[in-house]
Amino acid sequence: MLQIEGMYPPQITAMLDLAESYVLLNRSGKTQRDLLRGRTLINLFFEDSTRTRTSFELAGKRLGADVVNMGVSTSSVNKGETLLDTAGTLNAMQTDLLVIRHGESGAANLLAQKVDAAVINAGDGTHEHPTQALLDALTIRRRRGRLEALTVAICGDVLHSRVARSNIHLLTTMGARVRVVGPPTLMPSEVARLGVEVFHDMKRGLADVDIVMMLRLQRERMTRGLVPSEREYFRFFGLDAEKLRHAKPDALVMHPGPMNRGVEIDSAVADDPARSLIREQVEMGVAVRMAVLDILSRRARRND
Ligand code: NCD
Repeated sequence: MLQIEGMYPPQITAMLDLAESYVLLNRSGKTQRDLLRGRTLINLFFEDSTRTRTSFELAGKRLGADVVNMGVSTSSVNKGETLLDTAGTLNAMQTDLLVIRHGESGAANLLAQKVDAAVINAGDGTHEHPTQALLDALTIRRRRGRLEALTVAICGDVLHSRVARSNIHLLTTMGARVRVVGPPTLMPSEVARLGVEVFHDMKRGLADVDIVMMLRLQRERMTRGLVPSEREYFRFFGLDAEKLRHAKPDALVMHPGPMNRGVEIDSAVADDPARSLIREQVEMGVAVRMAVLDILSRRARRND
């Protein structure tokens, strides 16, 4: 599971349908610990994470896998070991499932060529974050019953966002209309080629949309000043009740987290239970990751 780009609609639908069954299982408080019994899942995180790492851990445990978390601060990566040496070590330990987050775009693909384990990309640089797009799609589909023909505005720091890229691929593949909204300095130059409409003004970009997906301003990936002050950014591109009024009256608000409150989103909107799906996204994250582990381990089982 390296990227959404290249996936076909039936594959995405099958993944979401299976995840849907895991939502019900999780809500019932049951587990299915036989499914991955005896399997080893390693969480290899070279970048910070709260939601993604924890939800992969929970997903693995609920399906009965042995889960090991490897944080970079405690690994030999700090002693200068390369990604591929680390991969070789993990391979020798007979890992079945490897979840990797890394600052370099392409790191997950590289690793997948070097290890026997099934590799899941939990975010590689500014490239893709496929399980995030799947959980976002599941969240939307459960609320709206479909993805097709919905209009989704992805707003903010699109340039640095792997979440935006994976969502653009998934939503356009599934027949949604996608807009990207943000300042020109935070838009990839060729973004229109991905089949989206580009806006530099929130009022126009949000007009009549069904879903408003906000992105974090990713300062850690900015090598130069691409935005003015945070106050000014909020004034033009931060989502508040006033700007949200331009969307459909029942438009729903999403954010992958972590949020910068008062920078890209106002707390009153983020915490409004009638409009915000942010909590639900986190719940869907566990179910989607269970579905992904389930499907990938079926393949691994066939190779036994
Ligand atoms: C995102 C990420 O790491 O790409 N977070 C997440 O996985 N929920 C988005 C972000 O960091 O802004």
